[in-house]
Amino acid sequence: MHAIIVQEFGGPEVLTPAELPSPQPGPGQVRIAVSHAAVNPVDTMIRSGAYRDRLVDQAPPYIVGMDAAGVIDALGPDVDERLFVGQHVVSLVLPTSILKGAYAQQIIVPQATVVAAPVGVDAAAASTLLMNAQTARMALKALAIPPGEWIAVTGAAGAFGGYTVQLAKAAGLQVIADAAPQDEHLVTSLGADVVLPRGDDFAARVRQIRPDGVSGLADGAVLFDKALPAVADGGRMAIVRGWEAPATRGIDVHWIMVSTGASDTAGLAELVQQVSDNVLTLRVADVLPADQAPEAHRRLEAGGLRGRLVLEF
Ligand SMILES: NC(=O)c1ccc[n+]([C@@H]2O[C@H](COP(=O)([O-])OP(=O)(O)OC[C@H]3O[C@@H](n4cnc5c(N)ncnc54)[C@H](OP(=O)(O)O)[C@@H]3O)[C@@H](O)[C@H]2O)c1
Repeated sequence: MHAIIVQEFGGPEVLTPAELPSPQPGPGQVRIAVSHAAVNPVDTMIRSGAYRDRLVDQAPPYIVGMDAAGVIDALGPDVDERLFVGQHVVSLVLPTSILKGAYAQQIIVPQATVVAAPVGVDAAAASTLLMNAQTARMALKALAIPPGEWIAVTGAAGAFGGYTVQLAKAAGLQVIADAAPQDEHLVTSLGADVVLPRGDDFAARVRQIRPDGVSGLADGAVLFDKALPAVADGGRMAIVRGWEAPATRGIDVHWIMVSTGASDTAGLAELVQQVSDNVLTLRVADVLPADQAPEAHRRLEAGGLRGRLVLEF
């Protein structure tokens, strides 16, 4: 089977096409014939070696990728009746596990990470859902903001930020989001109540709208200390990259790790349902043949993409 492997960490050019033996599912595992794998920022971190300490259980070649869509083509023993051969599915894949990542024609994944694909969207779009939407869902749970109160979202034009805006609105929150001028329309269409210019003074602008600050903030733009002043005393902040947050004003900072929510089957299935219900909308920037993974990583690292790049196998 065809795969995109990383033999040695490095730049986008280390993503190399290879033929590997067809993997066989063990107990409680399924094999997915992957048609599409979304390209996420974390893939570049694993590829470059920035996250090498998370790969201690593995030997090269590494395979990156956390978001797969495809068709189940084999079941291991003891798999639930909800999953069957021929079923169109999506999976939140953990490339740091010994089962490796999603950039491959066939992947083995634990059944808990697999749910039926959303109906009415193509597989490329479906592959862009789970990783970032589950992170958004977990961030909102950690922030625990009561309906009617305010959340601020940075990086709102991105995948995590966009899903956070949409899920926050569905949960009855009031949303202040950031946007570059060219993204204002997009972020408004996602449901943000107030859209402010992005940048280092976002927190000060939030305080102009909400002088006491917001109950919670989801920091998709990784602004950390620059975003923190937007949060009210005693409020909460959800971060998606590591940060030694200062203890200040009674604010709780929660580092969201989507890997801890990969087996939340009910949560993943609810996200799929929210696509059908038009709560969540999927955005694809481009679909590239899998062997163009280096080009996909170059484009992602250049910034400015809107929607996800997707590799086709
Ligand atoms: N911890 C976890 O489990 C987890 C899970 C999912 C994602 N993440 C992390 O979450 C972050 C966002 O992921 P994503 O997939 O949403 O990325 P994305 O789609 O690239 O979105 C990030 C957005 O932030 C914008 N941005 C960059 N710098 C900014 C700044 N200084 N001020 C305001 N906006 C800025 C980007 O705009 P430009 O494109 O114009 O730069 C982009 O629109 C990444 O760091 C990712 O690794 C972590």
